[in-house]
Parts: sequence; C-alpha cells; structure tokens
Amino acid sequence: MRLLITAGPTREPIDPVRFLSNRSSGRMGYALAEAACEAGHVVVLISGPVTLSAPEGVTLIKVETAREMFDAVQTHLSGCDAAIFSAAVADYRPVNVVAQKLKKTADKLTLELERTEDILGSARSKLGFQGFLVGFAAETENLIVHAQEKLERKGCDMIVANDVSQSGIGFDSAENEVTLCLPGGRTIHLPRQSKTALARELIACISSSIQPPESSIQ
Ligand code: CTP
Repeated sequence: MRLLITAGPTREPIDPVRFLSNRSSGRMGYALAEAACEAGHVVVLISGPVTLSAPEGVTLIKVETAREMFDAVQTHLSGCDAAIFSAAVADYRPVNVVAQKLKKTADKLTLELERTEDILGSARSKLGFQGFLVGFAAETENLIVHAQEKLERKGCDMIVANDVSQSGIGFDSAENEVTLCLPGGRTIHLPRQSKTALARELIACISSSIQPPESSIQ
C-alpha cells in the first residue's frame, strides 16, 4: 500500500531567530516510516525539523511550519491508501512575524497567537481523503474518553492514544505504550516497548485493517 506519514514538531516563527515549538523528537513517526518500508509499502514521510535521518527507501519531504506541513499533505495525500498523522503540529502560531530581531525594550511582552491549520481534522472534510486515517492523541487524563471523542470528531479510523503523564514513554523517549481506539468503542492495548517494535505492530494492525487476512474473508 501507499502510506503518508507526518512526523516531528513544527516551528512557528516569532522573528528571524526565534520560534514556538515543542519537544517532539520525531522518533515514533520515523520508526513507523521504517517499519512500513520494511513491510514493503511505499512511504512518503512529511517531517518537521528533527535530528534523525530518513529511513532508506522513504520519500522525505522536509517542512518547518504547520502551514508548510498542511501544504505538503495536500499535495501528497491523494492516491494514498493510509495516512498516519504522528506529527506534533503546533496548535497556535504568532499572528505577526516581525522582520527584524525583537529587542528587549519593555519589561513584558505579549505574543498574540492564532490557530494553525488542523491537518488531521482537514483530511476528510477539506482534502476529501477516503483512505484509512490514523491520528495520535497525547493526553494527561481521561485518555480513552478523549481519544474516542477525537476519533469521531476528526473522522479517523484509528487513534493511537498516548498517556503523556507517564515518564519514559511518548514524547522524546525511546519507548512507548499506547492504546489503539477504533470505531464502536473498541480498544487494543499495545504494552510498553521500543518505538521500533511498536511501529512494526502498528503497521501490521493498519495493513490487516485495510487488507484483512484471507482466512477472515467470507
Ligand atoms: N494534528 C494536526 N494538525 C494540527 C494539530 C494536530 O494534524 N494543527 C494532528 C496530530 O498529528 C495528531 C492529532 O492531530 O494526530 C492530535 O490532535 P489534537 O486535537 O491536536 O490533539 P492534542 O494535541 O492532544 O490537542 P487537544 O487535546 O488540545 O485538542
């Protein structure tokens, strides 16, 4: 199958030398791209700034901002059988990006922020994507309730729910433990393991959801 994966953080500029961003390392998205490639799928990886190198065989598209990520997804989404949105896209960006470096003249500085494009939330409605749609949910409380709500609101086929209140998993860690939330309130728990092992399991789950094993075809 043909897969689109978003990964890493985005950077939203404040001035020529500063930006708003987050702690995403991109490891989960890159591990998914590698696992998908290993399994013989064609992969387009749209990545924010990270220090990782792209797995061999993957088409890498580098972006910085949420807007650039949205544009790249819009260009590459059609024709994909599945899309996995693992990027930690900034939810807000500064309204005004100043052309020169901000000087520290005042004691207080207020930044006005506006919402960025919701890329996952646009996949069905604005971009007309009809393939298998996978989102991520990073939560600190009521993990499954929030993830199920996100599944319905964004028209996803699967949400990979991450409890980011636990240390050592998720954001900027080598390991992860997730619960897959599926339509109809179904869940599958994938226990703590390396992001590489978890990525293989996730890719296997997604491919079997799209192409059920022959034995299960009536
Ligand atoms: N996402 C996206 N574009 C954004 C923000 C998020 O594509 N501008 C995607 C992420 O890649 C992830 C999912 O949406 O797959 C996360 O959904 P979101 O509603 O942003 O979840 P949280 O970041 O957990 O935010 P909140 O719970 O505050 O709504």
